[in-house]
Amino acid sequence: MVEHETAAPGYNDDDESPRSQCSASRSSSRVVYLNNAGQARLSDAAKRAGIHALTSPILPYADVDLRKIRNLFATVIGATEADVCIHPSTAFSITMAAENIFRRHVENGSGATRRVGDVEATTTTQPGRIIVLEDQMCSAVYGWQDIVQRSKGTLKLDIVPFPSPDACASWTDLILERLEGNVVACCLPPLHWSDGSLIDLVRVGDVCRAKSVPLIVDSTQATGIMECDVKRIQPTLMACSVHKWLRSCSGASLVYVHPSVRDEWQPLDQHGRGRDFGTPAYDASKDEMSDDGYPTTFFKDARKFDSGGKPNPVLLPILRASLEEIVTLDIEEAQQQLRALMSPFLEWATRHGYTFPTSHAHHLVGIRPTSQASTEKMIAIAERLESAHNVCIAVRCGAFRISPYLDCTPSDMDRLVQALEQEALHL
Ligand SMILES: Cc1ncc(COP(=O)(O)O)c(C=O)c1O
Repeated sequence: MVEHETAAPGYNDDDESPRSQCSASRSSSRVVYLNNAGQARLSDAAKRAGIHALTSPILPYADVDLRKIRNLFATVIGATEADVCIHPSTAFSITMAAENIFRRHVENGSGATRRVGDVEATTTTQPGRIIVLEDQMCSAVYGWQDIVQRSKGTLKLDIVPFPSPDACASWTDLILERLEGNVVACCLPPLHWSDGSLIDLVRVGDVCRAKSVPLIVDSTQATGIMECDVKRIQPTLMACSVHKWLRSCSGASLVYVHPSVRDEWQPLDQHGRGRDFGTPAYDASKDEMSDDGYPTTFFKDARKFDSGGKPNPVLLPILRASLEEIVTLDIEEAQQQLRALMSPFLEWATRHGYTFPTSHAHHLVGIRPTSQASTEKMIAIAERLESAHNVCIAVRCGAFRISPYLDCTPSDMDRLVQALEQEALHL
């Protein structure tokens, strides 16, 4: 098995930092990489695709890859190529959704009839609520925060807290309870990024549709390793950054946009890439400009929402190669494999006083010490795991987040247990 560079344990977002990358020279043992929720390791095929792009005499033109990527991603999420656009980040996609919902909210004002997707609904004079989760990843929250601030009190965040450990109701139930009254949008992930708590988006989607509330999904920690079928969830928008379970480098988010908002919604930035000039032939825009400027007609499909800027010709071949592998995965089997891998570890964690969500994914689980350990201490432990044991995990929202991929072995999990037994004994 190849040694890989690994990710930072203690960061508040999931960015990589060269400062904290594991160095194989620190220990001769194989790196146990359990931070795939931070940054995926590239498969050999994905690396080859990147190297091939970089070493080509001229950087390849990205259009062929773009088309294929839309198609492959659509296959993974049960959509069609026409539903998929490409953004630089999930924050970009969520901001686009927020801006469109803001436009609709401000245009119509309180008491007016608003139209979301296919269903009509009547707004009230209550502030419109935007449902998010406690400690949800910030890329899925800032866009809403911004429109709330600009709304002069007509919008507010409605943050659904983590269920208390002794609560009977699941997090999904708590969300459904909030889906009453004037809800303007619901922005949720299929699972919490810190501990893997599952949210049943099919149930939430059903209620959102019945109440005409747009469901905006950040599926970054799910798509590629867990079922995220848009035919079942029916979100208005679902965005997925590509550097986790889509097994690519960072720099893009693949985005599903429901056909019902294609006409009404606007892209976030203004440029020519989402426009239909009637011909693919590029002629430097000659003769296209009138007194009003350039032609404005958008593509009829989700390419309308593509972000501007030339697509990255190195990232795209890597992403394409990764997606070509992901479409061959049996997601159900993958989750079963990871469940079998994680079970003995979670039994160990329970015996040693850690807690974790009752209903959790198998590719990402956060274990919390029952005693109140400081974040600093937990980060220091994770750093020791990395520097002294070559075991890479992350600390997120008070939990040690363990996120294996399908190449992890039971002996990797044994190494994690041994390292925690040595370094976290007195937590
Ligand atoms: C749940 C979740 N969403 C989104 C992202 C990435 O967002 P962005 O593409 O805006 O950096 C991450 C991690 O980086 C994440 O954990």
